[in-house]
Amino acid sequence: MHALREAVRSGRLAPGTRLPPYRTLARDLGIARNTVATAYAELVEEGWLSARQGSGTQVAPRGTPPRTAPSHRPRRAERPRVLHDLMPSSPDASSFPRSAWAASARRALATVPNDAFGVGDPRGRPELREALAEYLGRARGVRTEPDRIVVCSGFAHALSLLSGVLRGPLAVESYGLSFHRGLAERAGPRTVPLTVDAHGARVDELPASGAAAVLLTPAHQFPTGGPLHPERRAAVVAWARSHGGLLVEDDYDGEFRYDRQPVGAVQGLDPDRVAYLGSTSKSLSPALRLGWMVLPGPLTEEVLAAKGPREMWSGVVDQLTLADFLACGAYDRHLRRMRQHYRRRRDLVVRTLAERAPHIRVSGIAAGLHAVLELPPGTEESALRAARRAGLALDGLHAYRHPDSAMAPRDGLVISYGTPPDHGFAAALDTLCDVLPKAP
Ligand SMILES: Cc1ncc(COP(=O)(O)O)c(C=O)c1O
Repeated sequence: MHALREAVRSGRLAPGTRLPPYRTLARDLGIARNTVATAYAELVEEGWLSARQGSGTQVAPRGTPPRTAPSHRPRRAERPRVLHDLMPSSPDASSFPRSAWAASARRALATVPNDAFGVGDPRGRPELREALAEYLGRARGVRTEPDRIVVCSGFAHALSLLSGVLRGPLAVESYGLSFHRGLAERAGPRTVPLTVDAHGARVDELPASGAAAVLLTPAHQFPTGGPLHPERRAAVVAWARSHGGLLVEDDYDGEFRYDRQPVGAVQGLDPDRVAYLGSTSKSLSPALRLGWMVLPGPLTEEVLAAKGPREMWSGVVDQLTLADFLACGAYDRHLRRMRQHYRRRRDLVVRTLAERAPHIRVSGIAAGLHAVLELPPGTEESALRAARRAGLALDGLHAYRHPDSAMAPRDGLVISYGTPPDHGFAAALDTLCDVLPKAP
């Protein structure tokens, strides 16, 4: 109610704007339909909205004085207002499978032995490692046994642990998350950038780089968006074998591929040379903080030693819930539903830009939850400023570039089409088109 009052007061929701139906908003916010109905009714009473039989709820015509005073809470420090979040960080939070997750939690709690509630094994619960070994083999082509899986609190945790046991520099893609590079460097190794082109990372630069390991996003380069070319998949494994190196495979959104079957994990080519890292952050929610490492045998003990003698990161109830969620097929069902959902959104992004900004190329769209809008040279900074002014949160490509990269900087915007709830998606795209550089 507070947000709606503010939106009407500030003019962001213009008079006559139709509000989403109760059912849609309730689903997006994960609240009961009656709660939405009560909030709308209250705002109609206050004069912010109007409701007419058969035409839904709308913003009241301007001039209708609000009949009750708005809240008198003191104003918080001004932050840039975000009306539409297109930051490539989160999936659609309103699609979290609440009831299936709750059903798995109930089943897991009803059947788990009491010892689960004692001190946790840092490997993770055996039920989860077994379910993951089956799922990853079937869905991602990962070759493993449960004993080589270590549960962790997401990719970031896995990267910190692994970086702490590396003996030498870590090669990374020239474009990637600076947050991840920072985590690796704080744990030990220096990072050295590899060129990224249309076929993914130039792994032929590895021998000269002096790297002991390489961190790649082979299924869907983050953020530029292509898969690693098959020849380079083979070449990186050949480098790891001949140089005693390690590939750290970040499979953060490997399940979301739209135009054909998902590209399988490189790990399947040589499980002794690849540390495969996965996470629920894109498939379910980044708030779960649940992920996994599939490790070459000798590395498993080293990583466990770094993790410590008892589980301090991943709650046992969430681990058991995910184990049940995987085993009963709910994870597969959720992914199938989300794949269709994100595919529809991706198609809308492509269609809208083709109509409203045909001079902007959209790339990296075969998979994942984000796309890159390629901008004319020198226009990224002004597009970001325009986006900020319009209340649009998104990132520019420059933010992802390794500071030591020899690649010429590219101008572009990285936008997530996963994050906004359904009722805000069309308006987010509309605002996006408004802030893009105009055709020359
Ligand atoms: C490139 C990349 N790797 C990994 C992850 C997953 O990170 P985490 O499991 O720490 O949330 C993300 C974000 O979801 C990502 O963008």
